[in-house]
Amino acid sequence: ALISLRQLLDHAAEHQYGVPAFNVNNLEQTRAIMEAADATDSPVIMQASAGARKYAGAPFLRAMMEAAMNEFPHIPVVVHQDHGTSPAVCQRSIQLGFSSVMMDGSLGEDGKTPTDYAYNARVTRAVVDMAHACGVSVEGEIGCLGSLETGEAGEEDGIGAEGKLTLDQMLTDPEEAAQFVADTGVDALAIACGTSHGAYKFTRPPTGDILAIDRIKEINRRIPNTHLVMHGSSAVPQDWLQIINANGGEIPETYGVPVEQVVEGIKHGVRKVNIDTDLRLAATGSIRRYLAEHPAEFDPRKYLGESLKAMRDICIARYEAFGTAGQA
Ligand code: G3H
Ligand code: 13P
Ligand code: NA
Ligand code: ZN
Repeated sequence: ALISLRQLLDHAAEHQYGVPAFNVNNLEQTRAIMEAADATDSPVIMQASAGARKYAGAPFLRAMMEAAMNEFPHIPVVVHQDHGTSPAVCQRSIQLGFSSVMMDGSLGEDGKTPTDYAYNARVTRAVVDMAHACGVSVEGEIGCLGSLETGEAGEEDGIGAEGKLTLDQMLTDPEEAAQFVADTGVDALAIACGTSHGAYKFTRPPTGDILAIDRIKEINRRIPNTHLVMHGSSAVPQDWLQIINANGGEIPETYGVPVEQVVEGIKHGVRKVNIDTDLRLAATGSIRRYLAEHPAEFDPRKYLGESLKAMRDICIARYEAFGTAGQA
């Protein structure tokens, strides 16, 4: 059944767990998420990015999510719009029946240029007014996502600051976060705490604290009633990188956010954990391997079915690690 982000994350805060928010673009991802949630008794957040809407078409995506809820009526599902770059984009999603939208006013409408506080607060407030009138939740963002190792924002189809970022930009200021919540009334707030979008987060195996856990704690202390969101939370599984490269791929050495670090964040108030890259890597690795091992096969259901299984296993692992399992 459809629920709002506020409803789900209030429950997650009360019971001290986190919820992975997986991006969906196609049938296999949608089914993988639902089958994993069904197997582990987990509530679901599925989200559509601008890239997903461009690829599948917003009505197709929304209908696919509806079909998922019809087939698994016992699972609570938040249908969320990821990284809206303007109030108009969010308005369209509300109209299509999304139960939650992200207004990312930390970047301009180009998805690249960092904005000032006044702009961010103004566009986010406009979306909150619209969304709350319809029972729809809103996620905002303060700060610029960037890897504390490389200073790069990373990039996913046009969302990400251009050029090198300063440490100041890459860590959300707790004071500013508190002001932003007071000014906008957002239900959830994406913070910058050392993660970045995409597969290229860290060039070396991450050791110790690659996330600014103290910063997460401090922000959570200042805004205890606003749910924290961590974008760029893929682990970039080394086993899938190896399978991709053993079957014709050429992905350079790279590392993501270890699952244990995300779990540490959840202990300190992170409730929504955005994951896209891990499902992309699992899909690509499983399809490359299947086609390499079955060169005469040409039924797409065979290799796409492999991707479904590979993505489902990642979803199950995250539901279990984040404490989402058993909470539906
Ligand atoms: O925020 C980025 C997500 O990973 C979605 O990326 O727009 O390429 O689908 P996308
Ligand atoms: P990853 O690229 O780490 O999977 O992050 C996805 C994300 O934050 C989508 O908004
Ligand atoms: Na940002
Ligand atoms: Zn994101």
